[in-house]
Amino acid sequence: MATNKPSDSTLRLGSIAPNFESDSSNGKINFYEYVGDSWCILFSHPDDFTPVCTTELGAFAKLEPEFTKRNVKLIGLSVNDTKMHKAWIEDINEITGSFLSFPIVSDPKREISHKYDMIDFQDSTNVDDKGLQLTIRSVFIIDPKKTIRLIMTYPASTGRNTAEVLRCVDSLQACDNYKIATPINWIPGDDVIVHNSLNNDEAKKLFPKFRAIKPYLRLTPLDIQELNKNHKL
Ligand code: BEZ
Repeated sequence: MATNKPSDSTLRLGSIAPNFESDSSNGKINFYEYVGDSWCILFSHPDDFTPVCTTELGAFAKLEPEFTKRNVKLIGLSVNDTKMHKAWIEDINEITGSFLSFPIVSDPKREISHKYDMIDFQDSTNVDDKGLQLTIRSVFIIDPKKTIRLIMTYPASTGRNTAEVLRCVDSLQACDNYKIATPINWIPGDDVIVHNSLNNDEAKKLFPKFRAIKPYLRLTPLDIQELNKNHKL
């Protein structure tokens, strides 16, 4: 029985993403089995056949090859049933020229939505025709150990930015592989920040071209091929 209630989710960065089983546009799905050893982007939508969500799903579908290159699987969630999801996907493909093949989970009772705290309490208009809360626009970036690495939360009225989601994956993966952080508006190819855990001597070995703007702000180009020769975490 679906109810309007506060979510008791305490998911934070570093939490293990809960598993779930559900119907989806691609049939029954076990979340952990679907993700396997990949990274995953789990993202929710308020409702099927709505304009903002339609543009978002078309954009995610078009960018899917870039996510695949980075070993990332996509999985959407919306509260409607799978019959509606399938009909909506036909519209999405027609309107946006995409070919959406990743699953969209069906969560009519908001069970997964509550687990992941994808529920809206601020926007009283974001409810279905029965007055049940609709989901908001949540994005969870989950790593292969099923650890939640990044959470974004947008209101129903604001469409997300797929390039930003991809950029965050690039940053997380680069920071996992090298002792770096990524500065404001970083995109791959830009200089990165040498991690504060490295002293200057250690930094010099790993990043021979680093330069100190301030003792606490050291920048370096990130030439991944060059770095792979002498940089193992
Ligand atoms: C939309 O996707 O367009 C939308 C859905 C729910 C509320 C507002 C906008």
